[in-house]
Amino acid sequence: MCGISAIASHKPVSDQLLMTLQNLEYRGYDSCGMALFDDEKISVRKNVGSVDEVNAVEKFSTMNGTLGIAHTRWATHGGVTQSNSHPHFSNDNNFVIVHNGIISNYQQLQANLVTKGYKFFSDTDTEVFSNLIQEEYEAAGDVENAFCNAIDKLEGSFAIAMITNYQPDTIFAVKKDSPLVIGINDGVNYVSSDINAFISETRDTIILDDFEYVMVKKDDYKIKKLENRNEITKQVIQVQWDRQTAQMGGFSHYMLKEIFDQPHTVRSALHIPRDQINTIAQKFIDKEQSFCVGVGTTYYVAMVGTYLFSDYAGLYVPSISADEFPTLIPVNDKQHVLYFSQSGETYDTRMAIRAAKNAGAATSAVVNVVGSSISQEVDDCIFQGSGPEICVVSTKAAVSQMIILWQIALEVGVLRKHISRKTADEFQDKFQIFSDTIEQVLNEESGFIRNLASQTSHINNWLFMGKGIYYPIALESALKMKEVTYLHAEGLPAGFLKHGTLAMVDENMYSLFFLPFKSDSDLYRSTLMSIEEVKARNGKVIGFCSEEDEEIRKLLDHQLIIPASNPELTPLIQLIVAQLFSYYSALNLGLNIDKPRNLAKSVTVG
Ligand code: F6R
Repeated sequence: MCGISAIASHKPVSDQLLMTLQNLEYRGYDSCGMALFDDEKISVRKNVGSVDEVNAVEKFSTMNGTLGIAHTRWATHGGVTQSNSHPHFSNDNNFVIVHNGIISNYQQLQANLVTKGYKFFSDTDTEVFSNLIQEEYEAAGDVENAFCNAIDKLEGSFAIAMITNYQPDTIFAVKKDSPLVIGINDGVNYVSSDINAFISETRDTIILDDFEYVMVKKDDYKIKKLENRNEITKQVIQVQWDRQTAQMGGFSHYMLKEIFDQPHTVRSALHIPRDQINTIAQKFIDKEQSFCVGVGTTYYVAMVGTYLFSDYAGLYVPSISADEFPTLIPVNDKQHVLYFSQSGETYDTRMAIRAAKNAGAATSAVVNVVGSSISQEVDDCIFQGSGPEICVVSTKAAVSQMIILWQIALEVGVLRKHISRKTADEFQDKFQIFSDTIEQVLNEESGFIRNLASQTSHINNWLFMGKGIYYPIALESALKMKEVTYLHAEGLPAGFLKHGTLAMVDENMYSLFFLPFKSDSDLYRSTLMSIEEVKARNGKVIGFCSEEDEEIRKLLDHQLIIPASNPELTPLIQLIVAQLFSYYSALNLGLNIDKPRNLAKSVTVG
């Protein structure tokens, strides 16, 4: 949702700024731009397109200067045009800014500036700030005060970085409700929306909190509080991610790499310290009611949680989509909400946290990005340790969150005496087998899944169905398919089919069924009935099955054969196979897999 980057260095920065933009591109890729202070004045180049496309035209590397800011955009206010791209100049060309977030009172501020003769050249909410600071500078006479006075007038969410002709060795940056981090190196300092921007250069990071601003030079930085403008000292953390995990490592796309990361990320999820799992599990006991909340993929993670708590703990834990949570749930202090977020920055999830906190509810979260806003806002947070997820669509982060949820649900089950400690402990072996099975399936079935995708990628309409825990798995798999192929894939409970959607089934409709092995007989039998319903209308059916299950194999037009081990964790194996199926379908269609159209990772606006 827009990426901002700024570098102050002892040497020319255009190449490094370009690299940081490429590293941030998953946050938005409609357009991008750069501003550098070049001895006497600031020059700006910007245009529409991906970073590589814009660079081909604007030739960023030929820009001079040792201090600069850059931006990659995901349009919110104003269309995808060169004038709406960032950076934005003030009218007198003395201030240049880049912004992530939404300035909600920009129309009012702009109207006021227009009456004073300011002109606006874009449709963005952002440009108002560059002129506001010009005005404040005319009154205050120094940049820092002008910057703070201008910020005081803003409402909404923002991470802003600014450079100015008046103080050409300094980057000014501020954060409220949009992420901002500082990277520290020898003679080079970075400011960015996230650590991915500069992780190849330094791991020494400072996470800014809301209402903090920073003045960064090549060999120095000062962090201050907006409220009193006093300097503060903040801890420098060493981020554990490294350059290699942030790179593609020989895979053709990040999505494929991240799908193949999963045996490893599942093992990391199994090494979450026990006390962290127990602390969150205890909240399910202490509070009268708990909810699981996420949005998009993480909502489906939360839904998986509903089934796990029901199965292992005999407890109904409703799952709610974060965007609906504030209007739907009358929260109170006897409740507990467990949130899921890969980025830790999602606006809808943050608003759902705010609603719970305002009502005095207990909050906890499972988050991937260390130092992210959500991790700081909740009472207790588990960092899932999945490493950077660069592809816009979430794969490995979601599966790891499900594994962590599994562990929490088992612990709640033990605390509620719904299952024995022995049953819970036996899962440790099952999880180990599971991570081996993922490895086996990825290595052995990839070719088969790729072939199947090449036979079916011309199909425009899909139904993805499952029952019980296989239902949220079907929903998440359908979301993956939509995101990367742009094909219509509708996820629904298999039992729901005959209540309406069956009307759409004919020989052109393909259905993908997620279902357990035969040993889980009730769920298996009832899903089989839905498969029969589709077959009776000449619909085509793809389904998961084991090698041994002749009964279902006879019914299926295409089979997705998976190893018949570990029945409890079979839904997750099927999800991983479905991730691969979506990937290969999109590959066959020649689409932009890591950056699907209209989407951005880290949706920090409402
Ligand atoms: C889908 C996807 C999105 C995110 C959602 C929440 O592949 O990635 O649906 O899951 O935007 O994002 P996080 O997990 O960062 O809170």
